[in-house]
Amino acid sequence: MSSRKRVLCIGLVCVDMISVVPEFPEEDSDHQVKDYYWQRGGNASNTASVLALMGVAAEFYGTIAKGHELHFLQNDMEEFGILSENCVTYGKGHSTPVSIVIVSGKTGSRTILHSNKSLPEIRVDDFQKLDLKHYSWIHFEGRQNCEAIQQMLLCIEEYNKTASKGDTVLTSVEAEKPRRPKTDLILNHSDYVFISKEFARDRNFDTKESAVKGMLPYIRPGATVICAWGEDGAAASTGDGELFVSHTFPPVLVVDTLGAGDTFNGSCIYALNKGHSIQKAITLGCKVAGAKCGLKCIKDLKTLFAGGIENIL
Ligand SMILES: Nc1ncnc2c1ncn2[C@@H]1O[C@H](COP(=O)(O)OP(=O)(O)OP(=O)(O)O)[C@@H](O)[C@H]1O
Ligand SMILES: *[C@@H]1O[C@H](CO)[C@@H](O)[C@H](O)[C@H]1NC(C)=O
Ligand SMILES: *[C@@H]1O[C@H](CO)[C@@H](O)[C@H](O)[C@H]1NC(C)=O
Ligand SMILES: *[C@@H]1O[C@H](CO)[C@@H](O)[C@H](O)[C@H]1NC(C)=O
Ligand SMILES: *[C@@H]1O[C@H](CO)[C@@H](O)[C@H](O)[C@H]1NC(C)=O
Ligand SMILES: *[C@@H]1O[C@H](CO)[C@@H](O)[C@H](O)[C@H]1NC(C)=O
Repeated sequence: MSSRKRVLCIGLVCVDMISVVPEFPEEDSDHQVKDYYWQRGGNASNTASVLALMGVAAEFYGTIAKGHELHFLQNDMEEFGILSENCVTYGKGHSTPVSIVIVSGKTGSRTILHSNKSLPEIRVDDFQKLDLKHYSWIHFEGRQNCEAIQQMLLCIEEYNKTASKGDTVLTSVEAEKPRRPKTDLILNHSDYVFISKEFARDRNFDTKESAVKGMLPYIRPGATVICAWGEDGAAASTGDGELFVSHTFPPVLVVDTLGAGDTFNGSCIYALNKGHSIQKAITLGCKVAGAKCGLKCIKDLKTLFAGGIENIL
């Protein structure tokens, strides 16, 4: 029964409009591109993709504006099997976040033009409309709205107190951007905290091991800190200070490391949500993220999962 419950990812969804050009263009000139495509992006939406590809009932929850992009995003999520029925849509005066990305074939550089016309984040009163009984796990992408996320985490804490045993919800948050205000508010209220290398470095930790141990005083007693460290793998520390590490599993050829972080998080959540140990979770994270580095896009992971995830664990 509980395996049929959903994993909810709350955060950003956006459209990346990607043009690949032989070399970066001069201003006011006219060029033919080598490749052009739209791609669904946003960290929470990518994590939902990984979970859905792994066979989890994944749901994305965020704000989207009405318009062309809405249909593209809804169709794409449907293709992946991601539920998006609870997303909040905004009308006139708002636009969906879009990134116009110019990839230079010559240097590999990515020039990004980001647009977001005053699209609000999910509000606490939106969140309160969700029926928490549907979910076994809720993951939050730590964005500008940390105060609101803290309120949502407190709602889940309250719900957990009265929920029957099979109905409680586990939570995770990710803290990525070091300078975001009030990040500490969300660290202290979640069962699992993902921190990035950038975030750890900003707090003067220079290894994954020192980062996960050093963050323990900022998190809720009993909670677990997880940190992925690029080519150095990942580490985790449980609330009692026990340390777990995993090395990387590099692909034969590194094609594109973009999205490796989201793949790592999604795979960890997959394992933990199934009741596996934290050691198994970070190892699976490194295995699947490593495989992603050898692939162009997250969707290509489908072939890896076709043989059954229990065989990768
Ligand atoms: N070059 C690599 N070879 C093998 N595995 C890698 C490589 N780079 C990253 N990984 C795997 O991906 C995981 C996450 O990587 P990283 O910490 O770089 O995430 P990130 O910076 O959030 O990624 P991104 O922003 O590109 O999605 C690492 O723990 C590691 O297991
Ligand atoms: C998503 O995460 C990556 C690193 O993990 C970061 O570089 C990127 O800016 C994030 N995207 C957004 C829209 O926050
Ligand atoms: C859009 O940009 C505003 C201003 O920078 C920011 O506060 C808000 O969080 C962004 N919304 C989304 C959904 O990215
Ligand atoms: C929710 O309940 C579960 C089970 O009792 C508990 O392990 C977890 O820490 C709780 N999470 C939150 C955020 O309250
Ligand atoms: C995954 O966690 C990393 C921190 O380890 C963060 O940079 C990235 O944005 C996260 N992605 C999501 C969807 O939370
Ligand atoms: C975490 O929250 C608890 C209870 O809300 C509070 O007592 C404690 O001081 C907080 N810890 C940190 C490090 O913010």
